[in-house]
Amino acid sequence: MSKNYYITTPIYYVNDRPHIGSAYTTLVCDVVARFKRAEGYNVMFLTGTDEHGQKVEKAALKMNLPTQQFVDDVAGNFLELTKTMNFSNDDFIRTSEKRHKEGACAFWKSLEEKGYIYKGEYSGWYSIKDEAFYTEAELIEGKAPTGAEVEWVTEESYFFKLSSLEKKLLEFYDQNPDFVFPKSRMNEVRNFVEQGLEDLSISRTSFKWGVPVPGDEKHVMYVWLDALTNYVNALGYPDKSSKLYKEFWPANVHMVGKDITRFHAIYWPAFLMAADIELPRQIVSHGWWLVEGEKMSKSIGNVIDPIKLVEEYGLDETRYYLMKEISFGQDGTFSQDTLRTRINGELANKVGNLIQRTLSMVYKNCGERIPNVSEDEVDEIYQRDLLNYAKETYSEVKKKIDGHAYDKALGQIILLAEKANEYVNDSAPWDLKKNNEKEMEKVLYELCEVIRHLTILLSPFLPSSSDRIMKILGLDNEIFSFSQLSKNFALVPGSKIQKPEIIFKKID
Ligand code: MSP
Repeated sequence: MSKNYYITTPIYYVNDRPHIGSAYTTLVCDVVARFKRAEGYNVMFLTGTDEHGQKVEKAALKMNLPTQQFVDDVAGNFLELTKTMNFSNDDFIRTSEKRHKEGACAFWKSLEEKGYIYKGEYSGWYSIKDEAFYTEAELIEGKAPTGAEVEWVTEESYFFKLSSLEKKLLEFYDQNPDFVFPKSRMNEVRNFVEQGLEDLSISRTSFKWGVPVPGDEKHVMYVWLDALTNYVNALGYPDKSSKLYKEFWPANVHMVGKDITRFHAIYWPAFLMAADIELPRQIVSHGWWLVEGEKMSKSIGNVIDPIKLVEEYGLDETRYYLMKEISFGQDGTFSQDTLRTRINGELANKVGNLIQRTLSMVYKNCGERIPNVSEDEVDEIYQRDLLNYAKETYSEVKKKIDGHAYDKALGQIILLAEKANEYVNDSAPWDLKKNNEKEMEKVLYELCEVIRHLTILLSPFLPSSSDRIMKILGLDNEIFSFSQLSKNFALVPGSKIQKPEIIFKKID
């Protein structure tokens, strides 16, 4: 029976076009989803758009467009991005969809029935940019701790009894110390809760763009309560007997940026506790992309468009850079220089070069076929150091992926390419051709097998290039599986290969 694995991205605000920050969160999930599928898991990978709230409404007003038309356009950009970036999401949920609104209302009613909602008046600070409430004590020089502008709000509001769950949350963190990754952010979350939680305002009356509160349509739901429920709504909630819900809830990972950890690690678990629903297994929180050391922002004019990067540098080149440049969990800096250095120095010089020179030699010297070694020779080749190293690489990569060290996982795969390149130099098949043709065939077969291993390992990161490499090797491999990392799936000696083509071009 296959095991189930559910991973989600945050749903993106449709106030603006996607940038590399939003592309990054989904990319990391895509790599994990592909990795888990290759491990044999039955995966559900969800992404989507967060379309309600004041921030989105304001953006539509600024463009002078009807709000629904505006959100349809921007959501279309996010949908297009999933195609451009070759994301393998199984679903894309929009909070303006009926299934989502119905789920959010059912969730609200469940909180209400269980006695967690009451009506009152909210007086306090609100940041439209963050879509978050702040206490006076949290403000820094009159602004939100994030630097966003705040405004004073006084309005009738429904409240969620967050304070009543403080103790239960702390107990939960004690029992699940890895609930938030990395640990430093788990500590921040715990500290925040330890300082005391106030009840949370969960409805607004000063604007209309949201899900109406069931039974009191003067109010719309607070956008974060509405949005967080997407994770269960996409599985068919409130129908807990639906196939998807039974298979995939609770989620294994909610991947989020560091700025929204609090909403996922405090509010969401509290809502779920109140609704008597099982909690997700882990909140994984990543750092931010800065551009030349600064925050990306429209006003600075340094926003990086992932679609332009793909057009300019190539799809897998862009995916490679985004996954490798950031030490996962930390902030990272985008620059054209490091982008070029990584593409040229790592992808082209190490991986591309290994494939190009090996397969060209095979194509030229072995009659356009995988070297025709015997079965016994395959057994012998499988005892050699390089293939053993390739097998160990898989377990190292797996450890790194499970520990959320995605950049390090990629680093391990590059090391394998480096080792294989050294082996090409040391064994010098061009010399063997002159004096030991049999050994040349064995060395080239060994290298082809290493390339096959390398390609399977790279496939979650660079799916379309991996596919092209497999086709050159004569394999039809759209679905990659780590079970193929063994002699049982070794290349058939004497089978036809295609004329090698350059996989990763150097950038000038
Ligand atoms: N709509 C909420 C999420 C609701 S989830 C129930 C939201 N949307 S967002 O569009 O503002 O941000 C979505 C994700 O993009 C967040 O994880 C955020 O951290 C990430 N990023 C936005 N800018 C970023 C960078 N500059 N760098 C890396 N990720 C960043 O928050």
